[in-house]
Amino acid sequence: MSDPIRRSEEPLSPMKALSILYGEGEEDASREIVDGLIQQIFEGPERKPLAGIRRKLVGFVFWFLNKTTRKEIHTRTDGNPYTIFRNRVLERSTHSYTKTLLRPGDTTAGLVEGGNPMNAIYMMLCPRVARSARIWDTLLLDSVPSRDVQVRFAWETRLTHELASRRLKRGEPVRIKAFAAGTGLSVILVCERLLREGHDPKLIRAVISDRDPAHSSKTFQLIAKMPLLRDQIDRSGEATHGIFAKAEDIFQAAALAETPFHVVTVVGIMEYFPGHTYATSAERLNEPAPAAKPNGEDILKIVASQTGTGNHLIMNTHREGPATRILEVFGKRFCYRRPENLRALAATAGFLPTGTSFSGNVYDVEVFEKQGA
Ligand SMILES: C[S@@+](CC[C@H](N)C(=O)[O-])C[C@H]1O[C@@H](n2cnc3c(N)ncnc32)[C@H](O)[C@@H]1O
Repeated sequence: MSDPIRRSEEPLSPMKALSILYGEGEEDASREIVDGLIQQIFEGPERKPLAGIRRKLVGFVFWFLNKTTRKEIHTRTDGNPYTIFRNRVLERSTHSYTKTLLRPGDTTAGLVEGGNPMNAIYMMLCPRVARSARIWDTLLLDSVPSRDVQVRFAWETRLTHELASRRLKRGEPVRIKAFAAGTGLSVILVCERLLREGHDPKLIRAVISDRDPAHSSKTFQLIAKMPLLRDQIDRSGEATHGIFAKAEDIFQAAALAETPFHVVTVVGIMEYFPGHTYATSAERLNEPAPAAKPNGEDILKIVASQTGTGNHLIMNTHREGPATRILEVFGKRFCYRRPENLRALAATAGFLPTGTSFSGNVYDVEVFEKQGA
């Protein structure tokens, strides 16, 4: 008998999908969303970066938002300052994602239900959500930079899965580590897919870490709703297989008994740290340079200490352009790298490119191999 929930055609907005996935209960609906993400990433037509007229218009969108956005500094009751951005067009949309742009420090925004704000963008990969998208969903969550975030996520997930399943097919165990992983959705999809393919759960270990403990709680909350994954939860971090989520600052990442890892991801974090860049937001905006330390080399030293020789690291570039300047209007500051900059940075910690890479408008995703001492 067919499952009526899987075949549900009722509209599902991205923000609703996000709150279902990371909220309490709604197990069937959460599974349906995970099914949709897996279907799109592993079986669907390849998600492509935006091209054509929408890409051409990104320069105009940047110009318009830059002209119409105002920055205000307010003071909290504890005396600390906070920034909000005012933009009448975005405010009128009433779309809750705009809070991440307009009120960057507001952790009470409903969106935070999904942890990392990027999760709202990932929801657009789910075919039912994409079909239900309304105009503001498309403008905000499927813009040029947002589509690139989706493409980056899809490649991170596919590459992690491919590297892991290569080992499993040889009967070897695989240990995956995702640094600064937000709620770890990419690794969750990889593990779900590997288990659905019938791989032995005892051979699969995944450690999902992020500085924010709220993200790790969300990771466990979602895993507990997935029938195949829920039996693999490791809350103590002491198991030899299963999924462990922990709050960890990347700069203090301690080696675990299980290190080194075979597949390591460092995605969506290097662009906040200097070192081997070709530009920074600060240079462009004539602001003080970002602190020299800690930098990208410091991160990679730690990552290298947890990656086995001959094993793999997945990382991303971040290129400067009108799409990234839109985020600068809302106070975001980045360190920009092209593939050659990322490779030079990776080489400082003994990582060499394997030749596998994928490019979007803003990001490239590249696989590196750790060389011997
Ligand atoms: C842009 S998000 C990317 C999350 C995830 N990798 C993805 O691609 O969806 C950046 C993440 O880095 C985390 N983060 C920031 N600084 C960190 C640090 N020093 N150590 C660990 N995580 C950090 C944040 O909490 C946030 O979840």
